[in-house]
Amino acid sequence: MERNRWYKDMVFYQIWPRSFKDGNGDGMGDLWGVLEKLDYIKSLGCDGIWFSPIYPSPGADCGYDISDYMDIAPEFGGMEAFRKVLDGVHERGMKLIMDLVVNHTSDEHDWFQKSRRRIEPYTDYYIWRPAKPNGKLPNNWDSNFEGKAWTWDEERGEYYLHLFAVKQPDLNMDNPLVREEVKKILRFWLDMGVDGFREDVITYISKAEGLPDDHLFPIYKGMLKYNHGPHIHEYLAEFKRDVFDHYDCFTLAEAPLVWPKRALKYIDEEKGQLDMMIQFQCQCADCMFTDYMPMKFSLRRMKKAFSDWQIKLQGRAWNMLYLENHDHPRIISRYGSEKFREESGKALAVSLLFQQGTPFIYQGQEIGMLNWQPEDPEMYEDVQTRYTYAHSNLNKSPEVRLKKMWRSSRDSARTPVQWDSSENAGFTTGTPWFYVNPNYTEINVAAQEADPNSLLNFYRKAIKLRKALSSVRHGNYKLYYPLSSTHYVFSRETTEEKLLVICSFSDKTTALKVPAGFDISKAELILANYDNVSDKLQPYESRVYLWKK
Ligand code: GLC
Ligand code: CA
Repeated sequence: MERNRWYKDMVFYQIWPRSFKDGNGDGMGDLWGVLEKLDYIKSLGCDGIWFSPIYPSPGADCGYDISDYMDIAPEFGGMEAFRKVLDGVHERGMKLIMDLVVNHTSDEHDWFQKSRRRIEPYTDYYIWRPAKPNGKLPNNWDSNFEGKAWTWDEERGEYYLHLFAVKQPDLNMDNPLVREEVKKILRFWLDMGVDGFREDVITYISKAEGLPDDHLFPIYKGMLKYNHGPHIHEYLAEFKRDVFDHYDCFTLAEAPLVWPKRALKYIDEEKGQLDMMIQFQCQCADCMFTDYMPMKFSLRRMKKAFSDWQIKLQGRAWNMLYLENHDHPRIISRYGSEKFREESGKALAVSLLFQQGTPFIYQGQEIGMLNWQPEDPEMYEDVQTRYTYAHSNLNKSPEVRLKKMWRSSRDSARTPVQWDSSENAGFTTGTPWFYVNPNYTEINVAAQEADPNSLLNFYRKAIKLRKALSSVRHGNYKLYYPLSSTHYVFSRETTEEKLLVICSFSDKTTALKVPAGFDISKAELILANYDNVSDKLQPYESRVYLWKK
């Protein structure tokens, strides 16, 4: 039977739970807070929610280090609050997906505790290796977060592999028992009514046989040996065959280092094992490794990445569209302009929302939250930021080093959502677990609710339009002026209608260029971020024109 791919008509909202909304006054966001805000999320036109991890966790990587996969952390409200949220979501005709983090667990997970003591059947649940005879590490791989990828465990007398933090040991997915555990977890949540999963760094789960050294990749050594490894498609196909095919759900895979051709091996609608992919190419418009290879934002790079994915997936697979998530600094601060915050926020929204795919909006993006800029590096919480700060750019001045962190830290986008101008931005009545961006008195949901021209209301308008227009879902995509470094212009066309999207990424007034074959005097201007339009484009001016055939 043909699958009903309902996710194609949806817009998702990503909740990073610690900083979304505190419902019980202990200073930490939770599911009671989410319950209060379900109507708000729905009012955006979003019909799905992705939760970053809400399972019990020691918090070494803000929940991406899980110590129990079949429960909800008490600080978030436990299973009782979760069931209420799930019901609340479904009552509103919305869907909910969970984060599946199975490349690694927390070192405090019971499996790891037993594995380090060689208690069966857990002995081979993780990737253990003895020291080399010369006392060297088992191989030359780096972790993504904290130095080398191997840590010595006294208890077991061996090294364990961790591609992320020391407290995130990698599971041994080659062990069939581990794959059965994963299936158990999947069924547990799907049976409860969850509608799918976002799969954390899932392309890392199959490591090259023999764990050989990596001599090619300049940073994050090892990535070429564990990313897209030898059994990756086989394991994903197994999860699909044994679990996903038996449920009405979808999967979204996080996949570093993919481009469309490689992505199709995973998400081709006929042959793939997954439904959508979080790719990093668009994030590379200023390079994801900002701290190692600082580059200036390039609109041309961004357009090329977006366009490649739009064109090469068309008719074969489905795009996941995003600009922000909990792993990247805020997009206005990166790709837009803090000076033209509203205008550039709207230009970015238009650039994304009129493409083909399923958009994901990260909490606070819809009100144009900006990067947080602490005055002291000690204020950073994120494990990756802390390590990077301590180990890079040591020859630079403290000011320069701190500014680099502002640009690249994940904490830049992890401050509490700014709900109103009351104390702590209305996030909590207690003491917030993390710093609130001091600009909350100006940038907050309440102020933007009251302003029909706000970024928040612009998101609502744009989402409503994208849902009403069949060309956004089905239309062919075409890019114009690929070499322009200030304008992003593309069309979407079906046999019934035609859209032209024009976005300026310049902070100056520029000439309006309209591609040949588009007579805008005969079109309807269905969306714009300035009140009066002329033959010039004002800073970050964006327009969407519609022709009905
Ligand atoms: C993914 C998550 C990130 C996490 C890492 C390790 O990239 O998005 O937040 O730190 O995996 O789980
Ligand atoms: Ca709380």
